Amino acid sequence: MRKILVTSALPYANGSIHLGHLVEYIQTDIWVRAQRFSNNSVHYICADDTHGTPIMLRAEMEKISADELVKKVHEEHSNDFADFNIKFDNFYTTNSQENKELSEHIYLTLKKQNKIEKKEIEQFYDEEKSMFLPDRFIKGACPKCKASDQYGDSCEICGSTYTPTDLVSPYSVVSGSAPIKKKTEHYFFKLSECSDFLETWTQSGTLQSEASNKLKEWFKTGLSDWDISRDSPYFGFEIPDAPGKFFYVWLDAPIGYMASFKNYSVRNKLNFDDFWAKSSDAELIHFIGKDILYFHALFWPATLKYSNFRLPTKIYAHGFLTVNGEKMSKSRGTFITARSYLDTIKNPDFLRYYFFSKLNESMEDIDLNLEDFESKVNSDLVGKFINIASRTSGFVGKYFDYNLMDSNNFVSKESKGYIKNIVDLKDEVSALYEDRQYSKLARLIMSQVELINEFVNLKEPWVLAKQENQHNENSELHEVCSTALQAFRLISIYLCPVFPRLGENIQTFFNDSFESFEQVSSSALKINKYEHLLKRIEKKDIEAMVNLNLD
Ligand code: 2FM
Ligand code: ZN
Repeated sequence: MRKILVTSALPYANGSIHLGHLVEYIQTDIWVRAQRFSNNSVHYICADDTHGTPIMLRAEMEKISADELVKKVHEEHSNDFADFNIKFDNFYTTNSQENKELSEHIYLTLKKQNKIEKKEIEQFYDEEKSMFLPDRFIKGACPKCKASDQYGDSCEICGSTYTPTDLVSPYSVVSGSAPIKKKTEHYFFKLSECSDFLETWTQSGTLQSEASNKLKEWFKTGLSDWDISRDSPYFGFEIPDAPGKFFYVWLDAPIGYMASFKNYSVRNKLNFDDFWAKSSDAELIHFIGKDILYFHALFWPATLKYSNFRLPTKIYAHGFLTVNGEKMSKSRGTFITARSYLDTIKNPDFLRYYFFSKLNESMEDIDLNLEDFESKVNSDLVGKFINIASRTSGFVGKYFDYNLMDSNNFVSKESKGYIKNIVDLKDEVSALYEDRQYSKLARLIMSQVELINEFVNLKEPWVLAKQENQHNENSELHEVCSTALQAFRLISIYLCPVFPRLGENIQTFFNDSFESFEQVSSSALKINKYEHLLKRIEKKDIEAMVNLNLD
C-alpha cells in the first residue's frame, strides 16, 4: 500500500473560489478518491494562503482586521469546497502557529547553511501611505509604446516586459500619488548557488516533460537570487532578528502545506517526520496550475533541500480554464464563482464530470463551452449512463421482487462477456486515473455504457416482459435486465471518484457501499425501487448562472 500526501495549491484568502480554481480541486479530488479506490493510503491537504499586501489592503477597504478577513474567507472557501465534494483531510490556514514555527525554523536553517544574504535595493515607496509598493500596485505609462495605466511588470498593449522603475509617470494604485524611489535592506535566498542541484532535479522525472522543457529556458538565462522579505506594513510573519521585515508570502505559502499537515497529523496521531523527513518513504505530490510552476519547481525544492527536508515526488501542473473559448470575463458573465454555480445549477457532479471528460495529463488549457457542457452532461450521464438503470430496473422490481441474477449464474455467453469485459478493465481504469488521463478514461467507460445500451436495445426487455413465460427467475428477461444492472453497478464503481453525490444515490439503489475498484469482482443480488437518480441540466439554469455573474 502506497502512502501518499497530496496537496492542491492554496487559494488566496482575498477572493471567492471560481470555476478556474475548481479545475484543480476537482482534478486533485478525483485523483485522491481514485487512489483510495486502488487501496492506497492518501492524505489530502490544503489551506488558505493568507499573507501579503493585497489581503492587507482588502481588509483595510472592508474596514475589518486582516485576521477577520481571513476568518470570513476561510468559512466561505470551506463551504464552497464541501459543496463541491472536494474532501480535504485538512483545510487549514497559513496564518497559523504551526506555519510560523516551521517558516522560522526553515529560514534559520537556510541562514545557517549560508544561503541567505542581505542586500540593499531600491523600491517604489508611497509617501502618503508610508509603504513600499509591490509591482502590481504601481501603474504608469509603458516605457516602450507609452500606453497609459500599465502595470509595473508588463504592458498589456504592446506586450513588452520591464521593471516598475522603467515606467513613465508612475503612480501608486493605493493612494494615487507619485511614488518616490527609496532604499531598503532586503533578505535574499541565494538561489543562484542552487543552480546545479535544481538543474538536475528538474530533469529527473518529477515534472511533466513540458514543464522540464520550459524550465530549461529559465536555466539558460540563469537563476537570480530570490527576495524573500518585505517591509512593514505587511500582513505576514516577522523575520527573526529583523524587526520591521516580514517573510514574503511566497516563502511561507508552500510551507503552509507542511503546517497544515502538521496540524492534521497531531489530531490524527500521524508522525510528521514519516512524511517530511529526508528519509520519508511516503510520496509527496503537488497539484498546481502552470502559472506557479516557477515557485514549485525552483523555490520550493531549493527551500526544502537546504533546510534538510524531503523533496516532492511529483509536481503535476494543469492548464488554465477558458469559458466559451475565451478568458473568463466579468463583462461576459463567464467569471463564474463556485457559489453562483451551486445556487443555479446546484449539482456539483455535472461540473466534476465535465472537467473529468476534458482533463488530461498535459498543461494544455481546457475549455468550458456552456452549450457543450449542457449537451454532453445530459447526453452522457442522463441519456446514456443513468438510462441503463432507468430502462431496466422497473422489470426487476415488478417481476422479480427486486432480485438480481448473480453475474456468475448468467447462462448466455453474451451476458458473461459484457461483464467480463468491464471487470477486465480494472487495472487500466486505475492506471488511467493514476496518470491523470481522465478524458481517455471517460471515453473508455462511455464506450462500455454505449455497448450495454445497444445490448438492451437489441434484447428489447419491454417486448420480453409481455410474454408470460418470461416472469420466472431463470428467464431471459431476468438475465437481460440483470446484465444491464450488474454492468451499471460496475461502471458506477469505476466512476465513483468522479461524482460522489450521484455515486451515493447509486449505492443506495444497490444497498451497497463503494470503496474499492476490487468490488467489481462481486455481484449485486438486489436493488431498491428506482428513484430518479439524476435530473437533467436545464438551459435556463445555465443562463441564470451567467446572469448572476454579469458585472
Ligand atoms: O497562486 C496562488 O493562488 C497561490 N495562492 C498559490 C499558493 S500554493 C502554495 F505554494 F502555497
Ligand atoms: Zn506598451
